[in-house]
Amino acid sequence: PLPVASLRAVAPFPVGAAVNINLLKTRAAYRQVMTTEYSSITAENAMKFGALHPSATTYNWTDADYLVDFAQQNNMRVHGHTLLWYNSLPGWVTNFQGDSMAWENLMRTHITTVVTHFRGKVASWDVVNEAIDDAGNLRTANVWRQHLGDRYIDRAFQYAAAADPAALLFYNDYGNEYSTTRRTGILNLVNALKSRGVPIHGIGLQMHTSSNISDARIAEAITTAAATGLKVHVAELDISMNPNRTATATFTEALAAAQKAKYKALTQTFKALPPAQRHGITTWNVADADTWKRTDCSCPEWPLPFDDNYQRKPAYDGIVEGL
Ligand code: XIL
Repeated sequence: PLPVASLRAVAPFPVGAAVNINLLKTRAAYRQVMTTEYSSITAENAMKFGALHPSATTYNWTDADYLVDFAQQNNMRVHGHTLLWYNSLPGWVTNFQGDSMAWENLMRTHITTVVTHFRGKVASWDVVNEAIDDAGNLRTANVWRQHLGDRYIDRAFQYAAAADPAALLFYNDYGNEYSTTRRTGILNLVNALKSRGVPIHGIGLQMHTSSNISDARIAEAITTAAATGLKVHVAELDISMNPNRTATATFTEALAAAQKAKYKALTQTFKALPPAQRHGITTWNVADADTWKRTDCSCPEWPLPFDDNYQRKPAYDGIVEGL
């Protein structure tokens, strides 16, 4: 491929990465790649409920504000992740005792406080994350649904829109590319929200995918999401090249080439969407050294466009060639 200055210089839509605030503060190479390559940024963990709102009466803005300042200094868009999720909740929420009015108040207060704090600084939010289970239904193991009923999702979007009418509001979930059941459940939910007039502007496709999933399935996930008319964000992209979690696996040239081809195909499909629907492609962290996948599978993994030394991989060239 032709050498390019950066992803952000050549992409006709935002290209982002999720960041670990500690690495952003302490590792020069990590910070360097972020400042030069990307035009959008997501907090890998720092804007989740437990991080921002550790006790009922305390908010901790330090890390999230650091990320927002960093983004402003480097002319990057901030995508907020995530206002409501069944996971990453602090103990005070999981153990919260109260009737449905008290739960409603808890949800509304959190969303309103967080979105208001970042109003004008966070351009878009994953308002609700992972509400659909593997059978394509609303997840039952979810305190929000348990205490607030199925329509908690509608109200979460309404509270977010009221706090920042200019923010773009997303529903974010995983598995559109590997499960037709999940995809149908997710698209049905999103279409129902739209038909009820809920202020939703986009679908986030997490896209924690792998060498096992065909390019056609990935394309189907992207084009069916776009068929709703909403914006599409490939929101947490990583491509596992060790899906069987083999402990002795190594990253061969053949694997690097196969990964490059997958990054390229995904980028081509995304680029082909109507420009107004392209919210962007965000990878889940920057370099293989820092991927959550290694902890998640306790196995060798190389799912990202930068290697352990923050050098561009063939996957990076795949993105560039797909643009
Ligand atoms: C993951 C982070 O990468 C980890 O550091 C953390 O320990 C757990 O959460 N789907 C999501 C993300 O929406 O928030 C998750 O991030 C990965 C799966």
